[in-house]
Amino acid sequence: MRTNTRIPCVIPMEDSKPLRVLCIEDDPDDLVLVRLAARRFAKPLQWQCTDNALGVTTALAQGVDIVLSDYHLGGYSPLRAIAEITARGLDIPLIVVSNAVGEGAAVEVLRAGAADYVSKDRLATLPMVITRVLEARDQRERQRRLLADNRAVAQRLKSLAAELVQAQENERRHLADSLHDSLGQTLTALQLHMQAADAADSTDEARSLREKSYGILRDAISQMRTLSFAVRPAQLDDQGLVVTVQSLAEVMLAPAGVDFELQTHGVERKRGGVQSALGFRVVQEAVTNAMRHARPQRMVVRLRFRDPGSLEVMVADDGVGFDTRRPHERTAIGRGLSTMGERCELTGGSLRVRSQPGRGTVLRACLGEIR
Ligand SMILES: Nc1ncnc2c1ncn2[C@@H]1O[C@H](COP(=O)(O)OP(=O)(O)OP(=O)(O)O)[C@@H](O)[C@H]1O
Ligand SMILES: [Mg+2]
Repeated sequence: MRTNTRIPCVIPMEDSKPLRVLCIEDDPDDLVLVRLAARRFAKPLQWQCTDNALGVTTALAQGVDIVLSDYHLGGYSPLRAIAEITARGLDIPLIVVSNAVGEGAAVEVLRAGAADYVSKDRLATLPMVITRVLEARDQRERQRRLLADNRAVAQRLKSLAAELVQAQENERRHLADSLHDSLGQTLTALQLHMQAADAADSTDEARSLREKSYGILRDAISQMRTLSFAVRPAQLDDQGLVVTVQSLAEVMLAPAGVDFELQTHGVERKRGGVQSALGFRVVQEAVTNAMRHARPQRMVVRLRFRDPGSLEVMVADDGVGFDTRRPHERTAIGRGLSTMGERCELTGGSLRVRSQPGRGTVLRACLGEIR
């Protein structure tokens, strides 16, 4: 049977793999007509035909892209096919291709999940309908992937947040230990010396003990400054990252005789805020690591302020280096680098460490703009 219906050009599909069509039809003549009509589809078609439940199950197990099903079937129905597709968790569009079925039945199959309905006296529209339902399926697939991606990002952010809280707790514990071990002990020594001065038998002894107390007090003030700088250098807000990194080197590297060079590129923004603080933490962690693990003779820090708003930090030392594939072997704690990495990631940036035993270490952090 020929039809004069003009068919708009079908939309070309992205790949040329044949479309796997399952046709559920019990009338051999209609089957021929459906196959003829579908030939105008833009891709080659690979057919499986059946009129019963077993055939449908077998075909679905083998792989099907689209189902064309008659409505009036002797021992089967498109509703059963839809139920089976759904039960298998598949997203295979089913088009009912049938003689007039009446409005009630058409609504029933569409409600049950059929993608569309094509009357057998309008078979010429079949390729267009197939194109449309496949596009709708692709759209659903894209949305599913987007949703899955969003869920994965949300999950990653959740675990980053949990790890950050843990990192903050570790930092607080570290600070509490430092306060207790250094400042606490110095102040206790100060108290003992002052008590001894009060109880001294002679004025000379009392004066000597008071002088010692002043010395201990000076130590306590210097320890307090060092701790306060390590926790949050006030300079960072007043004078910016470049000056603060220079101070860090003076406090940590100069006394150990480590040669230091600071290179800067671009213009530091006036209020660097959280980004500057994070940049400082990265330099602080890298310098602390070098001093703890590497015995360097020379260190270079490079700060690159990029437009618009990103900051690149590079810290290199010429120390003993380490195998980056097994960084935690030499320590029980070892969370410094990974915590920095997570913080950089939260800004949309990244942190990379390159090192080899005997070849020094280079750390590069890229920090996105944080508003
Ligand atoms: N510059 C470096 N030179 C040599 N080894 C390094 C250097 N930086 C890191 N490492 C190695 O990588 C390991 C992990 O570093 P990381 O900063 O994560 O932990 P950590 O310094 O041991 O402990 P913390 O949690 O206090 O930072 C270190 O224990 C050390 O073995
Ligand atoms: Mg560390």
